[in-house]
Amino acid sequence: MNWEEYASNALKSFAEVTTAGELAEAHTAWLGRKSELKVGLRNVRDRETGMALNAVRERLEEAFAAREAELERGALVQLDQQLDVTLPGTRLRRGRLHPLTQIRREVEDIFLGLGYEIVDTREVETVWHNFDALSQPLTHPSRSHRDTFYINDDTLLRTHTSTGQIRVMEERQPPIYIATLGRTYRRDTPSPKNTPSFHQVEALAVDRGITLADLKGTLMHFFRAMFGEGRDVRMRTSFFPFTEPSVEFDVTCFLCAGEGCPFCKYTGWFEMGGAGAVDPAVFEKMGYDPEEWSGFAWGLGLDRIAAQRHGIPDIRMFWENDLRVLRQF
Ligand code: PHE
Repeated sequence: MNWEEYASNALKSFAEVTTAGELAEAHTAWLGRKSELKVGLRNVRDRETGMALNAVRERLEEAFAAREAELERGALVQLDQQLDVTLPGTRLRRGRLHPLTQIRREVEDIFLGLGYEIVDTREVETVWHNFDALSQPLTHPSRSHRDTFYINDDTLLRTHTSTGQIRVMEERQPPIYIATLGRTYRRDTPSPKNTPSFHQVEALAVDRGITLADLKGTLMHFFRAMFGEGRDVRMRTSFFPFTEPSVEFDVTCFLCAGEGCPFCKYTGWFEMGGAGAVDPAVFEKMGYDPEEWSGFAWGLGLDRIAAQRHGIPDIRMFWENDLRVLRQF
């Protein structure tokens, strides 16, 4: 083998190629594992030939690297000629979470920080879980077909997340600290403040010696985490058939921070939801001893919080999914 000739042929072929692909092929042919040069190197028996072949190999590798860099530069120059970097770019639109999902995750985070477990329960419910177990009187208007979506006589779309209290208590023994979030349904005529499907969050704590003070402390922590330090919570007596005593709670208006504004009708407070101590009658239905266990529950609507947070005047917008609205969050 005339290695001088081999080398000059290799150099010629490196010089002739015009693309990176062709150059790679030439490298395989002249310097690859099966090339004559490499086979020759593997079969070398004496030091002198070995040194000579290695010198050829080094020369060729250098020439290859230089040609590679040259081709790369050429390609860049070409690209530069074709590409006008001063033209405006096309904007990539990023996906994002629906504002209601964002609120939902925020609420879940606060509960997780309090050591609560997030539990999902069903939207299609039995009448028993939605009304009977929660001591709703048979004659209460919310049971009527005009207010509630029935699937058949025993099955309905849940009208509140309080069903989650029952679902969890019938399966577990206290102590219980859970929150459940999700869709609820009522036959409301769509309006800026109502949609037939909406979202609620429900919290339930059952343990020994729980009082309304624990409820208030939890609410205060929750709303401060949600709306900022300095928010206060006010409880007013109310009635729910499954809590005793029952309260409705207000939170310092988050637009005016309690100063008074048109939004809170100059009261400084904003109505948030319902709560109370779990009624011993509910514990009895669940097989818990009301002498040993006590608890609190509270619930509120998420759609309105999201609307207020973002200054959305009409909660139907959350369902229309108009991208011009959604892209703002
Ligand atoms: N479920 C009630 C409602 O939808 C709110 C509530 C929850 C009240 C928990 C008391 C305890 O109005």
